[in-house]
Amino acid sequence: MLKLYKGLKSYVKQLILMVLLLFVQAFSMLMLPSMMSLIIDRGVVQGDMNYIVTAGIIMICITLAGSVSAIGVGYFASKVAVGFCTDTRKKLFRHIDRFTMEEFDKVGTSSLTTRSTNDILQVQNFTIMLFRVIILAPIMCIGGITLAFQKNATLAMVLVVCMPVIVVFLVLVLRSAFPVFRSMQAKLDKVNLIIRENITGVRVVRAFTAEQREEKRFEEANEDMTRTSTKSQVKVSTLMPLLMLIINLGTVAVVWFGGQQISQGVIQVGDMMALIQYLMLIMYALVMMSLIFALMPRASVCAERIMEVLEIKPAIKDAVNPKIPEKKTGIVEFRDVTLAYGNSDTPAVSGISFTAMPGQTTAIIGATGSGKSSVICMIPRLRDPVQGTVLVDGVDVREYDLDALRKRIGYVPQKSNLFAGTIRSNIAFSNEDMSDGQVERAARIAQADDFISKKELGYDDPVAEGGTNVSGGQRQRLAIARAMATNANIFVFDDSFSALDFKTDAAVRRAIRESTQDATVIIVAQRVGTIMNADKILVMDQGKIIGEGTHEELLRTCGIYEQIAKTQLAGGGEEE
Ligand SMILES: Nc1ncnc2c1ncn2[C@@H]1O[C@H](COP(=O)(O)OP(=O)(O)O)[C@@H](O)[C@H]1O
Ligand SMILES: [Mg+2]
Repeated sequence: MLKLYKGLKSYVKQLILMVLLLFVQAFSMLMLPSMMSLIIDRGVVQGDMNYIVTAGIIMICITLAGSVSAIGVGYFASKVAVGFCTDTRKKLFRHIDRFTMEEFDKVGTSSLTTRSTNDILQVQNFTIMLFRVIILAPIMCIGGITLAFQKNATLAMVLVVCMPVIVVFLVLVLRSAFPVFRSMQAKLDKVNLIIRENITGVRVVRAFTAEQREEKRFEEANEDMTRTSTKSQVKVSTLMPLLMLIINLGTVAVVWFGGQQISQGVIQVGDMMALIQYLMLIMYALVMMSLIFALMPRASVCAERIMEVLEIKPAIKDAVNPKIPEKKTGIVEFRDVTLAYGNSDTPAVSGISFTAMPGQTTAIIGATGSGKSSVICMIPRLRDPVQGTVLVDGVDVREYDLDALRKRIGYVPQKSNLFAGTIRSNIAFSNEDMSDGQVERAARIAQADDFISKKELGYDDPVAEGGTNVSGGQRQRLAIARAMATNANIFVFDDSFSALDFKTDAAVRRAIRESTQDATVIIVAQRVGTIMNADKILVMDQGKIIGEGTHEELLRTCGIYEQIAKTQLAGGGEEE
């Protein structure tokens, strides 16, 4: 929690102002009981009307000053807390933006969403409370007791006895509540996960009529959270009645001893009234503090969860002395590269060595799970190899200026995401200020201009979140167009033609080749027809390259390739 609060540094001025106002507020609250006791003892008992009026006016002024300060404190507390949490959210978002796939896997998408929304809100609400109480409550406790001693030491002792009892109760209750709060946030994560899975996967859920099972899964998670939430609330809610009991017993004690002393003439009625009010003030302070303590476990769990994300060091960082090669020809070279996921001992791919030359098409073919995507995701450094090097124009990609590297690569991932917006905004994703000409050229290469022009609004037709309102083949073509609209000279297509019919597939590839002349093109595919014209074909099996050459060469030298080709081409009609 404290670590997170370091971000408050930029709000020092507002915080100082707030503290000053807090002092005014505390002063006015402490003054009022003394004033009242004076009015009773001097004004009411002695029948001095003038004194009552003057003292009354002063009391009103003090109250006004106190109220105005309280409003000011509330204003600054909210302003600082909200501003601070907005900053944190921004920081979190920027930080997550730099995460590699590895880190996303580690925390989980739903949890990241909860942490950047709900968790920050919890911290914000707590911070507002904290600001309003942190200084006020101790001043009122100490001030109340000091003033009480001035009035009457015997009665003040009652307050001194009450306070530690209250504190002990607070500690006991909150200690037992803390672990419950932690598990509550985890359960909220679970609920969010199920909601997210069901919203994004609504088609699958319906198609497999899994609604009932999913509803049950959700209900279980939801009830689990409810149970935990109730448990924590029950624990916290024992605080207030206990507190009230102690306070009421305290009041009775003050009246009991006070009554005896009044009848003995030691103190006056006003003094005893003032003491009761001090007791109330102290109670008020303690209640506020207990609220803080009640909110604190949850908020600090939330703060920890935020810090946990902020403290993850993205594995892929920009190089210390980033390099950019002198000649950007576009040679991509793999030297004995091994990639493993997470802490897995068995690598997903190993011993990968090959070179992709500019002006040529290099293809990778292999069964699903053979490691094709794993190989190419290392080129734009979505993941780094555990062994070996990937070089672009002779520079190790880990030493390459990360932005410059990625700008050179037009990458179409296997699962191409579209963003909510228009067709134009999706194609011009790499550069908002892209000219219409460039957008249309890219669409033509991807053979997307045809279906785009049939849309009601053409390029301005809306695209839904995740691109759910266009067909699979259209989505793939838009993703290809998005890559073609960049100024890259290395293009990487991860199974990007799978949803296209053979004719479109061939047309897209021909257009890509024509428009990219000297560029390096790397194509991952499962269909032999898609890659048989490539200058070089790599055959992958179980994380290794088991064959390399042209279509004709591989038919002769690579048994697995021959087999794939035979079964796939048997139907015929796949040639360009
Ligand atoms: N994010 C990941 N975490 C752990 N293992 C993964 C991950 N992605 C892929 N793998 C594993 O790596 C292997 C290669 O997968 P992948 O490169 O996607 O194959 P392909 O693209 O050829 O279908 C598979 O065994 C797969 O289970
Ligand atoms: Mg793949």
